Amino acid sequence: MEYFLDTADIEAIKRINEIFPLKGVTTNPSIIAKEKRDFKDIINDIYNIIGKEKVVHAQAVGSTADIIVKEVNLLRDTFGENIYAKIPVTFEGIKAMKILSKDGHKITATGILSSQQIIMAAEAGAEYMAPYINRSDNIGESGVEIVRDAYKILEMFKKSDEECLKRYKRVFELKILGASFKNVRQVHETMLAGSKSVTISPDVFERLIYHPYTDWSMDTFNSDWEKIYGDKTLIDLL
Ligand code: G3P
Repeated sequence: MEYFLDTADIEAIKRINEIFPLKGVTTNPSIIAKEKRDFKDIINDIYNIIGKEKVVHAQAVGSTADIIVKEVNLLRDTFGENIYAKIPVTFEGIKAMKILSKDGHKITATGILSSQQIIMAAEAGAEYMAPYINRSDNIGESGVEIVRDAYKILEMFKKSDEECLKRYKRVFELKILGASFKNVRQVHETMLAGSKSVTISPDVFERLIYHPYTDWSMDTFNSDWEKIYGDKTLIDLL
């Protein structure tokens, strides 16, 4: 499982990166704008915390393929090979993905709200596809169904056409990066639907492994221990 943190909040990244196994950090224009400071400094600060060997996803903001291509080239020139360019699944975005993927750029297709957008972005050369689970749920659709259907479509072709499987190996192994979560249940359902990557905001991330019965169990162990051994730890006793 690949866990990404969806934020540019430096304190949250420090806190969570120290504890949890992170693959990288994802951002979007709203997340960056919230920090109200220099874009380059924000991305460099993130790398300084998580390490240059991990990845950062930063979104292109241009509205034409031409501008997006220029932005993505600049992103790679500035931050190196471990930057993923998030590109929206608009007409211009798909056009830019086609051009950029031929040049070896690492692309995450974003703003995804349908399975067709996933398949199209994969064909256009994106490596990760980021469906917005909560935004889909919010309008009475189902974020998890988007993921499930995309995998279902690929499975059908995989079984029916060996030749096709060879040609489109990369597409068949598409990486769905579940995004836009508002609760742990959505993350869980998205993983169950087959997504091996998820990007999660700090507040939901810190609730991923929370369970009140775990806390209660530890409290009981601690109080039983203290009755006999006080504040001693195994370091004192071994
Ligand atoms: O990564 C996509 C995500 O940032 C959108 O999330 O919470 O604004 O719907 P949200």
